Parts: sequence; C-alpha cells; structure tokens
Amino acid sequence: MAAKRTDTNVLLPRGSIGSRVERGKGDCEWAQGVKRYVWRIETSRAPFSLFFLSLTNAAKFAIGPPFHFPNRASSKPLLSPAAGAPTWPSTTSSAAGSPAAHRSTLSAASSTPPRYRRLLPSPSPTALAVTEVLDFVRASFPAAQELGQHPLSSAAAGDAAAELRGAREDVRQLLKATSCHPILVRLGWHDSGTYDKNMAEWPKCGGANGSLRFEVELKHGANAGLVNALKLIQPIKDKFSGVTYADLFQLASATAIEEAGGPKIPMIYGRVDVTAPEQCPPEGRLPAAGPPSPAEHLREVFYRMGLNDKEIVALSGAHTLGRARPERSGWGKPETKYTKDGPGAPGGQSWTSQWLKFDNSYFKAIKERRDEDLLVLPTDAVLFEDSSFKIYAEKYATDQDAFFEDYAEAHAKLSNLGAKFDLPKGVSLE
Ligand code: HEM
Repeated sequence: MAAKRTDTNVLLPRGSIGSRVERGKGDCEWAQGVKRYVWRIETSRAPFSLFFLSLTNAAKFAIGPPFHFPNRASSKPLLSPAAGAPTWPSTTSSAAGSPAAHRSTLSAASSTPPRYRRLLPSPSPTALAVTEVLDFVRASFPAAQELGQHPLSSAAAGDAAAELRGAREDVRQLLKATSCHPILVRLGWHDSGTYDKNMAEWPKCGGANGSLRFEVELKHGANAGLVNALKLIQPIKDKFSGVTYADLFQLASATAIEEAGGPKIPMIYGRVDVTAPEQCPPEGRLPAAGPPSPAEHLREVFYRMGLNDKEIVALSGAHTLGRARPERSGWGKPETKYTKDGPGAPGGQSWTSQWLKFDNSYFKAIKERRDEDLLVLPTDAVLFEDSSFKIYAEKYATDQDAFFEDYAEAHAKLSNLGAKFDLPKGVSLE
C-alpha cells in the first residue's frame, strides 16, 4: 500500500475538480466527501486505478458516442464558460475568461497531450483514472460545476485583483497625462447602458460586456468619438491582458469619477467579455438628447435598464464632467470661454465651468440657466421640469453629499448591468 498522502494537488492535475476541492476553503459536505474519496484512492493505488478505469469506460459506453470528456483532445466544451468555467487569469488572450478563450484553450489541447500528461512528469494510472472520473462528474452534474468554481475563485481572485490594481494605477496616470476623465466615463456608460432587463439571455441583453470595443458598435451614432477613448486605454488592456474589456471600461470610468473629485464607487470586477461583433447590441438602446418628450423618453430607456427616477437624475449628474461637440453628437457649441483652451483637445460646450471637476455644479447650472456658454440639453432641462425628477434635482443642487451618495450607488448599479461575472462574487479592490 502506498504511503499516506494528504496533498492531493501533488498528484491531481491543476484544474481537475480534485485539486480544486483540495484548494478550496469551507467545502460543503459533498466536497468533503470527494476529498475523502480522493485521499482514499491515494492510499491504495493499484486496485482502485483498475476499478476507476473500468468505471470511466463504462460511463463512456453508457452515455454513448456524442459524449466527450471535456479535457480530452477531441472534446467539445461541455461546460460553457458562461456557466463559470474558470479561465481567468490563466489565459493571456485579449478575451481572457471569455468563451473564445476557453474554446481556444481546448483547441490548443488538441495538438498537445492531455493536460495531466503535461503537468505530471510520470502520472500514475490512479491519477489518470481519478482525473477522468472527476472531470466526468464535473461535466455531468451542475453541483459539481459549482464546486469546480469556488475553490478556484479564491485563488484566482487574488491574481485578478493584482492585475486590476495595476490597470487602475495606469488609468490614473493616463488621466493625469491627458485629462480624459469625461470620455472614459462616457465609455463605461455606453457599454453598460445598452442593457435590456427584459431579455434574459446573455449577451443579447446587452450591458457591461465589452461589446463597445467592436467597430460595429463604435459606429453607432450615439458612440461618436468613443473610438478615441478606446485608443487611449488599449495600451492598458495590452499590458494587463487578464483584465477584460468589460472590466477595464468600468474600471476606467469609476476611476475617472474618483480622480475628478467624485465619490468612491463600490465597484466589483470579474466581468466576462463578449467575443464577437455579432454579440453587439442593436443600435438605438442609448438615450437621445432631444426627443419629443424627454421625460417619457428617459423613463422608457432607463426603466428598460431597470433604473428608476432617482437613478436617472443622479446619473445625469455625470454631465458635471465633459463637453458636447457638434462634430460628434451634433450638440453644443464649437467652443466656449470654458473650452477654447482645453485641457485636452480644445472646443465643445460643457455643462459646467469646471468640467473636469466632479461636484454638484451641474444641477446648480441647469437650475439657474444663466450662462450662455453652458450647455443644457432637453434631457437635462427636464430634470427640473418633471415633478418626480425635480425632487431629486432640487435636492442635489443644494446637497452635494446627497448627490455623491446616490450617484455612487447608481453608478455601481449601472456598471453591473448585464454583466456576467467570472468569479462568484466578483472581485473587490478595496
Ligand atoms: C440621460 C440621458 C443622457 C443623454 C441624452 C446624454 C447625452 C450626451 C451627449 C449628447 C453628449 C455629448 C457627446 C459628444 O458630443 O461628444 C454626452 C456627453 C457625456 N455624457 Fe451623457 N447623456 C446621458 C446620460 C449620461 C450618463 C448616465 C452618463 C454617465 C453616467 C453620461 C456621461 C457623459 C459624459 C461624461 C459626457 C462627456 C463626454 C466628453 O466630454 O467626451 N451621460 N452625453
């Protein structure tokens, strides 16, 4: 009988359910059971290995030809990453954690030996059998898939947070160098704001899934100019390739708000990217600035996202930053006394005089409407005209703390719309 061994990771390939079970914290009863099972196998190898090999073959036989073990060279992915297949941060592809990344991992496997052979110099027959059986169990039962995620999550979360912190630091440097706060906020909002709560299917529902990086979506009329934001942050994406676009857009936006003097936003990360332009939402889901009935239009668009009147007003307060440019949206003056010298590319018309500072001056300016050089879109004006919106707009014009508090909450909610998280509870950087 082999010597007792408690560290099943030594034997089990990384990524197998056995190794994940071993690495996990606070395993459920089922997990404890699997652990004991694995350990028992380890303590008496030969007879068990034969038993498991025959069990594996019996399972294959019973299930029939369409079944493939998911970690085998010829296998099709039985587990969609949509179901949480752990990919991050092990892949360095631009769509890390995405279905495509997962598929490419699997197709790469087709030209190389199965992963346990690569990882273990001399695998025992027991190890091979255990891996097959456990992967089979994992592929076959949802509970096992769940189990497969949790222990990995705790390990992956640390690495993911480190990458995200690195990316956040680079975003801060970028903001300092280019004063691009407003356009980064708009980028995050336009990625998530396509969300439709009435569509259950991801990514058809739209939302914070990185689809805005694709040309087809960048070309939507509402996104005019956002290609510049993408160009600005692409080097950060290249450097921190484990961070998805979906996360980077939201990270950049929240960081821009904070760096401009706004509130700290309770963000979580771990969003999965869509992988193909075909997954982009249809054009027309974002609000128009000059619709015939602005209040009705705002409600139609934001209610579709699952947001309410308070959140509509609070989020509109993001216009404390930035400018509208006639050559992009068709709104605003070519330049004003506040924009003719930049910072950043000069020109456009801002909503506030200090348009790189996040405060409640947007609400004050909209209420007063004294300065010809400041912009008021029809959808801004309605915040003080509609009786329900007005309650919040008035409050925010006089109480910046209330605005900050509601804004931070609404922004975090906006950033999560339609997002699918790779890690069970997301990753917090705080
Ligand atoms: C309420 C409905 C909204 C409408 C109709 C609207 C419309 C617009 C328009 C027309 C522009 C000018 C774009 C350009 O010419 O470059 C703009 C800019 C901007 N929007 Fe909105 N927006 C809305 C909501 C929001 C929300 C919810 C946020 C963020 C949470 C936001 C953040 C921004 C920012 C930061 C800019 C400035 C971009 C820059 O300076 O490059 N907007 N918006």
